[in-house]
Amino acid sequence: MDRCNFRCPYCMPADKYHENFRFLHSSERLSFQEILRLTRLFVDLGVRKVRITGGEPLLRPQISELVGELSLIDNVEDIALTTNGILLAQHAAALKAAGLHRVTVSLDSVDGDTFERMSGGRGGVSRVLDGISAAIDAGLDPVKVNAVIQRGVNDAGVLDLIEYFRGTGVTVRFIEYMDVGTMNHWQPEDTVPSRELLEVISERWPVQAVDRSYRGEVADRYAFDDGAGEIGFVSSVTEPFCRDCTRARLSSDGKLFNCLFANKGLDLRSVIRAGITNDELVNMISDSWKARADRYSELRASLRSSKKEPQRIEMYYIGG
Ligand code: 5AD
Ligand code: SF4
Repeated sequence: MDRCNFRCPYCMPADKYHENFRFLHSSERLSFQEILRLTRLFVDLGVRKVRITGGEPLLRPQISELVGELSLIDNVEDIALTTNGILLAQHAAALKAAGLHRVTVSLDSVDGDTFERMSGGRGGVSRVLDGISAAIDAGLDPVKVNAVIQRGVNDAGVLDLIEYFRGTGVTVRFIEYMDVGTMNHWQPEDTVPSRELLEVISERWPVQAVDRSYRGEVADRYAFDDGAGEIGFVSSVTEPFCRDCTRARLSSDGKLFNCLFANKGLDLRSVIRAGITNDELVNMISDSWKARADRYSELRASLRSSKKEPQRIEMYYIGG
């Protein structure tokens, strides 16, 4: 879903995504049938994990039905969803019943004012916290929180965020603020390096590094010494992990992106609507994946200093 009911300034600033902004028309979005057909082909090519993102995926009508259909596809081992959480309380039970395994809620601060500022004033933090509780109660497991930390904006609230979730089974993951898209005027100083956060956190609560559970896991995990759970760090700015990345992203209008920082996607919708066969589609997808050479994060510093910065797509369009 390309739409969102928040206007986080670093993702969909309200002055650009105003009332008259032209989001996709529903006929421009892939239908459930088209999404399911593509998912089956991706699974044939070896994909085992599916994540539904946005924008805000819970704005898509009948989202639980889509989850239900996805869960019927053989060899889909994991279905996850990333949401801003504001509508989660009302959807959690139906999503779980439909076969959703786990959920990640984007929440940058538990402080009401900071939250308001970071979400563009479109919803209260208490509703998001209720959404997280509802997800736990519904049996979604694990429930994770993604917090993007921006220097001078919400870095002072990091310990409060941890304190709130420690001992609840919810893992908070700190995401280094990145130069995704072109809207947020990112500057390197805005990113708080994970290493810096880890120092502050471990002074308060000692932690131990936990081994990665699988290749391509993007978060560095740490467990609290006192057994109150785990936290994680996604450090794509200070420690790029492009070489381990195995994610392909499909936008709501059916473009396939092999990298979060790509500037061009492969248009699958138009070939589907023109009647392409499954075999031809599989070849198209696998050729594009084989030719993949994206490693933007590893090249970020040199690209920026040479002023040859490429155009990039926006995060809300492609998901996290
Ligand atoms: N840097 C890091 N994370 C971002 N997100 C959106 N924009 C950025 C950015 N510039 C996060 C959201 C959400 C996930 C989908 O991506 O906060 O957690
Ligand atoms: Fe919406 Fe997430 Fe972007 Fe915020 S970061 S505007 S919640 S898509």
